[in-house]
Amino acid sequence: MKLLAYRIAANQLRTTRILNVKTESPTVKTFTFKDKGCVRAKPGQFLMFWIPGVDEIPLSILDATENGEVSVTVKKVGEATQALHNKKVSEIIGIRGPFGNSFTLKEGKILMVGGGTGTAPLLFLAKKLATKTKKLVFVVGGKTMEELLFVGELKEMCSEENLVATTEDGSYGIKCLATAPLERLLAKERFDVIYTCGPEQMMRKVFDLAEKHGIALEASLERLMRCAIGLCGSCVVGKYRVCRDGPVFTASQLREVKSEFGISKRDFDGKRIPLK
Ligand SMILES: Cc1cc2nc3c(=O)[nH]c(=O)nc-3n(C[C@H](O)[C@H](O)[C@H](O)COP(=O)(O)OP(=O)(O)OC[C@H]3O[C@@H](n4cnc5c(N)ncnc54)[C@H](O)[C@@H]3O)c2cc1C
Ligand code: FES
Repeated sequence: MKLLAYRIAANQLRTTRILNVKTESPTVKTFTFKDKGCVRAKPGQFLMFWIPGVDEIPLSILDATENGEVSVTVKKVGEATQALHNKKVSEIIGIRGPFGNSFTLKEGKILMVGGGTGTAPLLFLAKKLATKTKKLVFVVGGKTMEELLFVGELKEMCSEENLVATTEDGSYGIKCLATAPLERLLAKERFDVIYTCGPEQMMRKVFDLAEKHGIALEASLERLMRCAIGLCGSCVVGKYRVCRDGPVFTASQLREVKSEFGISKRDFDGKRIPLK
């Protein structure tokens, strides 16, 4: 009964005003606002973010504090995210959520692999795990130095030697894809768990390597979302609805959807299309 009441409350649209806007890169901004409904939000959960007059889109939670301040990090890719980027402090937005499951908080030696805005929920997770981990190694990737997110915060979370930054053009860190340093890291050291979030092809490579080395893995998936409460079916992957059963999936669940994971997704008509 309590869970049902929580779900109904989470699904109720709340309006709030933007408290702060931080430019992270030419295409990425972080928005902070107040919402009591997110006080207990967990790393990996997401919000349905309403941009009045434009659209409602899913966004992962970057941080949620006990005093009700919540942040999301948004990459400008189309109409809704462009309209959100145009928003200023004190303008109104709407939210539903938090939705979905979350990363499980595991102890021991942790490896995180984040790409692009996928780094946001992992940073939230790293903060929650700060007192539990024996060691945290973070591989963060971006196309260019400008698109590499949260490097300063990550250096604080997991000493400089445990942060591996990669860029595709070599403008910062190692010139390669985020997955390239993993073989070396996994050959050198035994990790208890790998957490990953970012472009799905990247996560598929991380999954394949975790399988090869027999390491537990959790990955956060993105699919088209409309209702976010398991009703419309827009977000299906195999037998799973990403909004209700995910967005975080374990390696054993991902094994069941191997023919789709990192390969295809559904468009707005439900047609399977290749992942770009
Ligand atoms: C669980 C989840 C968490 C996400 N977290 C973040 C985040 O923290 N930061 C971030 O920048 N982006 C995040 N996204 C992606 C973000 O939702 C899309 O970039 C956004 O919806 C694009 O909308 P648009 O109108 O700007 O672009 P459009 O031009 O409409 O679409 C651009 C691309 O975004 C995807 N998209 C469009 N509408 C949706 C939708 N309703 N649901 C899912 N994908 C959509 C489509 O694949 C499309 O190809 C997340 C997506 C999911 C499913
Ligand atoms: S978004 Fe409607 S079922 Fe997942």
